[in-house]
Amino acid sequence: MQIRPIRWQDDALELLDQRRLPQEEIYLALRDYRAVGQAIRDMVVRGAPAIGITAAFAMVLAMDHAAAQSDWRHALRSAAEELRAARPTAVNLAWAIDRQLALAEHCKDAAGARAALLAAAEQLLIQDIADNQRMGQFGVQVLPDRGGILTHCNTGSLATGGYGTALGVIRAGIAAGRDWQIYADETRPWLQGARLTAWELQKEGIPFSLNVDAAAGHLMATGCIQAVIVGADRIAANGDAANKIGTYSLAVLAHYHQIPFFVAAPLSTVDFAMSDGSQIVIEERAADEVRNCGGQAMAPAGVAVRNPAFDVTPAKLIAGIITERGVAQAPLREGLAALRG
Ligand code: MRU
Repeated sequence: MQIRPIRWQDDALELLDQRRLPQEEIYLALRDYRAVGQAIRDMVVRGAPAIGITAAFAMVLAMDHAAAQSDWRHALRSAAEELRAARPTAVNLAWAIDRQLALAEHCKDAAGARAALLAAAEQLLIQDIADNQRMGQFGVQVLPDRGGILTHCNTGSLATGGYGTALGVIRAGIAAGRDWQIYADETRPWLQGARLTAWELQKEGIPFSLNVDAAAGHLMATGCIQAVIVGADRIAANGDAANKIGTYSLAVLAHYHQIPFFVAAPLSTVDFAMSDGSQIVIEERAADEVRNCGGQAMAPAGVAVRNPAFDVTPAKLIAGIITERGVAQAPLREGLAALRG
Protein backbone atom coordinates (compact mmCIF):
# COMPACT_ATOMS: atom_id res chain seq x y z
CA MET A 1 0.00 0.00 0.00
CA GLN A 2 1.27 3.45 -0.92
CA ILE A 3 2.63 5.53 1.96
CA ARG A 4 1.02 8.96 2.00
CA PRO A 5 2.71 11.42 4.37
CA ILE A 6 0.48 14.37 3.35
CA ARG A 7 -3.32 14.30 2.84
CA TRP A 8 -5.99 16.96 2.48
CA GLN A 9 -9.27 15.84 4.00
CA ASP A 10 -12.37 17.68 5.32
CA ASP A 11 -10.68 21.10 5.00
CA ALA A 12 -7.75 19.95 7.12
CA LEU A 13 -4.14 19.11 6.32
CA GLU A 14 -3.34 15.63 7.62
CA LEU A 15 0.32 14.85 8.28
CA LEU A 16 1.68 11.44 9.17
CA ASP A 17 3.58 12.20 12.39
CA GLN A 18 7.13 11.13 11.50
CA ARG A 19 8.36 11.71 15.05
CA ARG A 20 6.37 8.65 16.14
CA LEU A 21 7.51 6.26 13.42
CA PRO A 22 8.21 3.36 13.36
CA GLN A 23 6.29 2.68 16.59
CA GLU A 24 3.00 4.37 15.68
CA GLU A 25 1.30 5.47 12.44
CA ILE A 26 -0.71 8.51 13.51
CA TYR A 27 -1.98 11.42 11.40
CA LEU A 28 -2.27 14.92 12.87
CA ALA A 29 -5.17 16.97 11.43
CA LEU A 30 -4.17 20.65 11.20
CA ARG A 31 -6.53 23.54 10.40
CA ASP A 32 -4.33 26.47 11.33
CA TYR A 33 -1.36 27.59 9.21
CA ARG A 34 0.67 28.44 12.34
CA ALA A 35 0.28 24.86 13.57
CA VAL A 36 1.61 23.68 10.20
CA GLY A 37 4.65 25.97 10.58
CA GLN A 38 5.26 24.43 14.00
CA ALA A 39 4.86 20.91 12.56
CA ILE A 40 7.54 21.68 9.95
CA ARG A 41 9.87 23.03 12.66
CA ASP A 42 9.25 20.00 14.89
CA MET A 43 9.77 17.54 11.97
CA VAL A 44 6.28 16.04 12.05
CA VAL A 45 6.90 16.31 8.31
CA ARG A 46 10.42 16.59 6.89
CA GLY A 47 12.34 16.07 3.67
CA ALA A 48 12.63 18.95 1.19
CA PRO A 49 9.84 18.06 -1.30
CA ALA A 50 7.42 17.06 1.51
CA ILE A 51 8.08 20.36 3.28
CA GLY A 52 7.31 22.23 0.03
CA ILE A 53 4.02 20.40 -0.55
CA THR A 54 3.04 20.89 3.10
CA ALA A 55 3.73 24.62 2.77
CA ALA A 56 1.56 24.80 -0.36
CA PHE A 57 -1.38 23.36 1.65
CA ALA A 58 -0.50 25.60 4.61
CA MET A 59 -1.07 28.56 2.28
CA VAL A 60 -4.69 27.39 1.87
CA LEU A 61 -5.07 27.48 5.66
CA ALA A 62 -3.32 30.87 5.69
CA MET A 63 -5.92 32.02 3.16
CA ASP A 64 -8.71 30.91 5.53
CA HIS A 65 -7.13 33.17 8.13
CA ALA A 66 -6.47 36.02 5.66
CA ALA A 67 -10.05 36.01 4.32
CA ALA A 68 -11.29 37.20 7.73
CA GLN A 69 -8.91 40.21 7.73
CA SER A 70 -9.64 43.63 6.19
CA ASP A 71 -6.76 43.34 3.67
CA TRP A 72 -6.56 39.66 2.72
CA ARG A 73 -3.58 40.09 0.37
CA HIS A 74 -1.51 41.73 3.10
CA ALA A 75 -2.56 39.10 5.67
CA LEU A 76 -1.62 36.29 3.26
CA ARG A 77 1.79 37.81 2.60
CA SER A 78 2.60 38.07 6.32
CA ALA A 79 1.40 34.49 6.95
CA ALA A 80 3.70 33.40 4.09
CA GLU A 81 6.68 35.04 5.82
CA GLU A 82 5.90 33.17 9.06
CA LEU A 83 5.80 29.88 7.17
CA ARG A 84 8.99 30.65 5.24
CA ALA A 85 10.91 30.98 8.52
CA ALA A 86 10.04 27.44 9.65
CA ARG A 87 13.22 25.79 8.30
CA PRO A 88 15.96 27.62 6.38
CA THR A 89 17.85 25.05 4.28
CA ALA A 90 15.25 23.24 2.13
CA VAL A 91 14.58 25.60 -0.79
CA ASN A 92 11.36 23.76 -1.67
CA LEU A 93 9.70 25.56 1.27
CA ALA A 94 10.33 29.06 -0.16
CA TRP A 95 9.75 27.79 -3.72
CA ALA A 96 6.24 26.50 -2.90
CA ILE A 97 5.29 29.57 -0.86
CA ASP A 98 6.40 31.94 -3.64
CA ARG A 99 4.44 30.01 -6.25
CA GLN A 100 1.31 30.16 -4.09
CA LEU A 101 1.76 33.87 -3.35
CA ALA A 102 2.15 34.67 -7.07
CA LEU A 103 -1.01 32.67 -7.82
CA ALA A 104 -3.07 34.46 -5.14
CA GLU A 105 -1.89 37.89 -6.39
CA HIS A 106 -3.71 37.24 -9.67
CA CYS A 107 -7.05 36.30 -8.04
CA LYS A 108 -9.93 38.75 -7.85
CA ASP A 109 -11.20 37.86 -4.40
CA ALA A 110 -10.45 35.76 -1.32
CA ALA A 111 -12.80 32.91 -2.28
CA GLY A 112 -11.26 32.65 -5.73
CA ALA A 113 -7.76 32.73 -4.23
CA ARG A 114 -8.57 29.93 -1.80
CA ALA A 115 -9.92 27.69 -4.55
CA ALA A 116 -6.87 28.39 -6.73
CA LEU A 117 -4.42 27.72 -3.88
CA LEU A 118 -6.08 24.40 -3.00
CA ALA A 119 -6.12 23.24 -6.63
CA ALA A 120 -2.44 24.19 -7.00
CA ALA A 121 -1.41 22.37 -3.81
CA GLU A 122 -3.27 19.23 -4.89
CA GLN A 123 -1.61 19.43 -8.31
CA LEU A 124 1.82 19.88 -6.72
CA LEU A 125 1.33 16.67 -4.72
CA ILE A 126 0.29 14.69 -7.82
CA GLN A 127 3.13 16.20 -9.90
CA ASP A 128 5.72 15.40 -7.24
CA ILE A 129 4.87 11.69 -7.29
CA ALA A 130 4.98 11.61 -11.11
CA ASP A 131 8.34 13.49 -11.11
CA ASN A 132 9.78 11.03 -8.59
CA GLN A 133 8.77 8.10 -10.77
CA ARG A 134 10.48 9.73 -13.76
CA MET A 135 13.59 10.39 -11.64
CA GLY A 136 13.55 6.70 -10.75
CA GLN A 137 13.65 5.71 -14.42
CA PHE A 138 16.53 8.11 -15.20
CA GLY A 139 18.44 7.01 -12.11
CA VAL A 140 18.28 3.33 -12.96
CA GLN A 141 20.08 4.07 -16.26
CA VAL A 142 23.13 5.68 -14.61
CA LEU A 143 23.62 3.50 -11.54
CA PRO A 144 25.63 0.26 -11.84
CA ASP A 145 23.59 -2.83 -12.74
CA ARG A 146 24.67 -4.77 -9.66
CA GLY A 147 26.32 -4.32 -6.30
CA GLY A 148 25.93 -2.41 -3.07
CA ILE A 149 24.07 0.92 -3.06
CA LEU A 150 24.49 3.10 0.01
CA THR A 151 21.97 5.78 0.94
CA HIS A 152 21.74 8.35 3.73
CA CYS A 153 18.83 9.93 5.62
CA ASN A 154 15.28 9.32 4.34
CA THR A 155 14.45 10.31 0.78
CA GLY A 156 11.46 8.05 0.25
CA SER A 157 7.69 8.45 0.23
CA LEU A 158 7.88 10.08 3.64
CA ALA A 159 10.21 12.84 2.40
CA THR A 160 8.14 13.63 -0.70
CA GLY A 161 4.53 13.46 -1.92
CA GLY A 162 5.17 9.74 -2.40
CA TYR A 163 7.65 7.28 -4.01
CA GLY A 164 10.80 9.27 -3.20
CA THR A 165 13.89 10.76 -4.85
CA ALA A 166 17.05 8.76 -4.05
CA LEU A 167 14.92 6.04 -2.46
CA GLY A 168 12.65 6.28 -5.51
CA VAL A 169 15.64 5.41 -7.71
CA ILE A 170 16.35 2.44 -5.42
CA ARG A 171 12.69 1.41 -5.61
CA ALA A 172 12.71 1.70 -9.44
CA GLY A 173 15.94 -0.32 -9.70
CA ILE A 174 14.65 -3.14 -7.52
CA ALA A 175 11.37 -3.18 -9.51
CA ALA A 176 13.43 -3.41 -12.73
CA GLY A 177 15.28 -6.45 -11.35
CA ARG A 178 18.63 -4.80 -10.57
CA ASP A 179 20.87 -7.01 -8.47
CA TRP A 180 21.39 -4.41 -5.74
CA GLN A 181 22.17 -4.80 -2.06
CA ILE A 182 20.85 -1.76 -0.27
CA TYR A 183 22.73 -0.22 2.65
CA ALA A 184 20.99 2.43 4.77
CA ASP A 185 22.91 4.78 7.09
CA GLU A 186 21.09 5.20 10.40
CA THR A 187 21.58 9.02 10.16
CA ARG A 188 22.32 10.44 13.57
CA PRO A 189 21.00 12.32 15.41
CA TRP A 190 17.38 12.17 14.25
CA LEU A 191 17.68 8.62 12.85
CA GLN A 192 15.84 9.23 9.58
CA GLY A 193 17.60 6.15 8.18
CA ALA A 194 16.95 3.81 11.09
CA ARG A 195 13.41 4.95 11.86
CA LEU A 196 12.04 6.01 8.46
CA THR A 197 14.02 4.48 5.59
CA ALA A 198 14.09 1.11 7.36
CA TRP A 199 10.32 1.35 7.97
CA GLU A 200 9.62 2.18 4.32
CA LEU A 201 11.90 -0.49 2.84
CA GLN A 202 10.49 -3.12 5.16
CA LYS A 203 6.93 -2.13 4.20
CA GLU A 204 7.91 -2.39 0.50
CA GLY A 205 9.57 -5.77 0.99
CA ILE A 206 12.92 -4.44 -0.31
CA PRO A 207 15.87 -6.30 1.31
CA PHE A 208 18.43 -3.99 2.93
CA SER A 209 20.74 -3.70 5.88
CA LEU A 210 21.06 -0.85 8.32
CA ASN A 211 24.48 0.41 9.43
CA VAL A 212 25.76 3.10 11.77
CA ASP A 213 26.96 6.18 9.89
CA ALA A 214 30.56 5.55 10.93
CA ALA A 215 30.55 2.15 9.14
CA ALA A 216 30.40 3.74 5.66
CA GLY A 217 34.20 3.96 5.21
CA HIS A 218 34.70 0.35 6.23
CA LEU A 219 31.91 -0.84 3.92
CA MET A 220 33.50 1.02 1.00
CA ALA A 221 37.02 -0.17 1.80
CA THR A 222 35.87 -3.79 1.91
CA GLY A 223 34.19 -3.61 -1.51
CA CYS A 224 30.57 -3.72 -0.33
CA ILE A 225 29.52 -0.42 -1.97
CA GLN A 226 29.45 0.27 -5.74
CA ALA A 227 27.48 3.55 -5.66
CA VAL A 228 26.14 6.13 -3.21
CA ILE A 229 22.83 7.92 -3.80
CA VAL A 230 21.37 10.68 -1.64
CA GLY A 231 18.76 13.44 -1.88
CA ALA A 232 19.23 17.19 -1.48
CA ASP A 233 17.66 20.12 0.34
CA ARG A 234 19.11 22.83 -1.85
CA ILE A 235 21.40 22.65 -4.87
CA ALA A 236 23.28 25.77 -5.96
CA ALA A 237 23.46 26.66 -9.67
CA ASN A 238 26.98 25.16 -9.89
CA GLY A 239 25.82 21.79 -8.47
CA ASP A 240 27.04 22.16 -4.87
CA ALA A 241 24.40 20.24 -2.91
CA ALA A 242 23.21 20.68 0.68
CA ASN A 243 21.85 17.53 2.26
CA LYS A 244 21.57 15.80 5.62
CA ILE A 245 24.64 16.12 7.84
CA GLY A 246 27.09 13.35 7.02
CA THR A 247 26.50 13.50 3.26
CA TYR A 248 29.71 15.47 2.63
CA SER A 249 31.76 12.88 4.58
CA LEU A 250 30.20 10.13 2.44
CA ALA A 251 31.10 11.99 -0.77
CA VAL A 252 34.72 12.42 0.34
CA LEU A 253 34.91 8.72 1.25
CA ALA A 254 33.33 7.74 -2.07
CA HIS A 255 35.85 9.91 -3.95
CA TYR A 256 38.76 8.26 -2.10
CA HIS A 257 37.43 4.80 -2.96
CA GLN A 258 36.55 5.80 -6.56
CA ILE A 259 32.87 5.03 -6.03
CA PRO A 260 30.33 7.16 -7.97
CA PHE A 261 28.30 9.51 -5.80
CA PHE A 262 24.85 10.56 -7.11
CA VAL A 263 22.28 13.11 -5.96
CA ALA A 264 18.59 12.67 -6.88
CA ALA A 265 16.36 15.73 -6.56
CA PRO A 266 13.60 17.52 -8.47
CA LEU A 267 14.53 20.73 -10.30
CA SER A 268 12.52 22.63 -7.66
CA THR A 269 15.41 21.82 -5.27
CA VAL A 270 17.87 23.69 -7.51
CA ASP A 271 18.25 27.29 -6.38
CA PHE A 272 19.45 28.92 -9.61
CA ALA A 273 19.72 32.25 -7.77
CA MET A 274 22.56 30.84 -5.65
CA SER A 275 25.78 30.71 -7.59
CA ASP A 276 27.53 28.23 -5.29
CA GLY A 277 27.01 26.31 -2.06
CA SER A 278 28.86 28.78 0.19
CA GLN A 279 25.68 30.90 0.32
CA ILE A 280 23.44 28.10 1.59
CA VAL A 281 22.16 28.68 5.13
CA ILE A 282 22.77 25.60 7.26
CA GLU A 283 20.16 25.00 9.94
CA GLU A 284 21.51 24.37 13.45
CA ARG A 285 19.05 22.38 15.55
CA ALA A 286 18.54 21.93 19.28
CA ALA A 287 21.38 20.55 21.41
CA ASP A 288 19.10 17.98 23.03
CA GLU A 289 18.74 16.15 19.68
CA VAL A 290 22.40 15.17 20.15
CA ARG A 291 22.48 14.87 23.95
CA ASN A 292 19.47 12.55 24.04
CA CYS A 293 18.21 9.60 22.07
CA GLY A 294 14.71 8.14 22.37
CA GLY A 295 14.11 10.26 25.47
CA GLN A 296 17.24 8.92 27.21
CA ALA A 297 20.28 11.05 28.05
CA MET A 298 23.32 9.94 26.02
CA ALA A 299 25.73 12.62 27.28
CA PRO A 300 26.30 14.47 30.56
CA ALA A 301 23.61 17.07 31.23
CA GLY A 302 24.38 20.51 29.83
CA VAL A 303 27.32 19.40 27.66
CA ALA A 304 28.07 21.84 24.80
CA VAL A 305 26.84 20.59 21.42
CA ARG A 306 27.15 21.48 17.73
CA ASN A 307 24.18 20.22 15.75
CA PRO A 308 24.32 21.37 12.11
CA ALA A 309 21.46 19.55 10.36
CA PHE A 310 22.98 19.74 6.86
CA ASP A 311 26.30 20.01 5.05
CA VAL A 312 27.30 20.98 1.52
CA THR A 313 28.89 18.52 -0.92
CA PRO A 314 30.98 20.30 -3.58
CA ALA A 315 29.90 19.71 -7.17
CA LYS A 316 33.27 18.18 -8.05
CA LEU A 317 32.49 15.17 -5.84
CA ILE A 318 29.13 14.50 -7.56
CA ALA A 319 29.01 12.12 -10.55
CA GLY A 320 25.51 13.17 -11.55
CA ILE A 321 22.35 14.95 -10.39
CA ILE A 322 19.29 12.89 -11.28
CA THR A 323 16.21 15.05 -11.91
CA GLU A 324 12.74 14.51 -13.40
CA ARG A 325 14.04 15.86 -16.73
CA GLY A 326 17.21 13.78 -16.98
CA VAL A 327 20.63 13.49 -15.40
CA ALA A 328 23.01 16.46 -15.17
CA GLN A 329 26.64 15.39 -15.42
CA ALA A 330 29.86 17.42 -15.17
CA PRO A 331 30.12 20.33 -15.68
CA LEU A 332 27.05 20.47 -13.43
CA ARG A 333 26.39 24.21 -13.84
CA GLU A 334 25.87 23.76 -17.59
CA GLY A 335 24.09 20.42 -17.11
CA LEU A 336 21.56 21.87 -14.67
CA ALA A 337 21.00 24.99 -16.80
CA ALA A 338 20.29 22.79 -19.85
CA LEU A 339 17.75 20.71 -17.92
CA ARG A 340 16.04 23.87 -16.69
CA GLY A 341 15.60 24.86 -20.35
O1 MRU B 1 16.13 17.19 8.35
P1 MRU B 1 15.38 16.45 7.27
O2 MRU B 1 14.95 15.08 7.67
O3 MRU B 1 14.26 17.28 6.69
O4 MRU B 1 16.46 16.26 6.11
C1 MRU B 1 16.07 15.57 4.95
C2 MRU B 1 17.18 15.37 4.00
O5 MRU B 1 18.30 15.79 4.20
C3 MRU B 1 16.83 14.70 2.71
O6 MRU B 1 17.91 13.96 2.22
C4 MRU B 1 16.42 15.76 1.66
O7 MRU B 1 15.47 16.63 2.18
C5 MRU B 1 15.90 15.13 0.42
S1 MRU B 1 14.36 14.35 0.70
C6 MRU B 1 13.80 13.71 -0.78
